[in-house]
Amino acid sequence: MATARVPAPRTPGRYRVGVVCLGNICRSPMAHVVLEQQVADAGLAHRVEVVSSGTAGWHVGKPMDHRAAATLTAAGYDATRHRARQLEAGWFDDLDLVLVMDRSNETDVVALAEQRDDPETAAHVRMFRDFDPADPGGEVPDPYYGGDEGFTEVLRMVERTSTALVEALGDALAGSAGP
Ligand code: 4NP
Repeated sequence: MATARVPAPRTPGRYRVGVVCLGNICRSPMAHVVLEQQVADAGLAHRVEVVSSGTAGWHVGKPMDHRAAATLTAAGYDATRHRARQLEAGWFDDLDLVLVMDRSNETDVVALAEQRDDPETAAHVRMFRDFDPADPGGEVPDPYYGGDEGFTEVLRMVERTSTALVEALGDALAGSAGP
């Protein structure tokens, strides 16, 4: 299956991706850590920046959920650096692509994007799993109120989707001049 395309970067040769969930302690931190690692493994760390945030501010400043961290650590990732942040409308000025985990996040993020003067802003918001090569177009289910297996499922989705995303980011950057 052909990889879905990402919007062209605003600044040629550089790309900023924001991953967004509700609390920024489970799904988007896992996506952040995995995507950042895969970007580095692809030799794109100097061109692609990844940030994550939640639509809600309940956990701002806190490390990720201990079950998310344990799942990442067991798979060999560094889960220690994350601190939760809340998405602000001003972030849209710098983000080339905003990837939301579920439809509820999408509703909240599009509402925030529509506060901007720039009518193009909402066009940069996409579902994270639009890039899932195995089963595109769905949601990343919220594991917060469930068991450990929910975190394992999120990791599997996030790993295979990040692989496809890194390929799409590489294509977008190859098509734009840069440093
Ligand atoms: P996340 O999961 O959106 O994947 O970070 C949640 C984390 C916290 C809450 C809900 C979902 N909460 O209600 O505090």
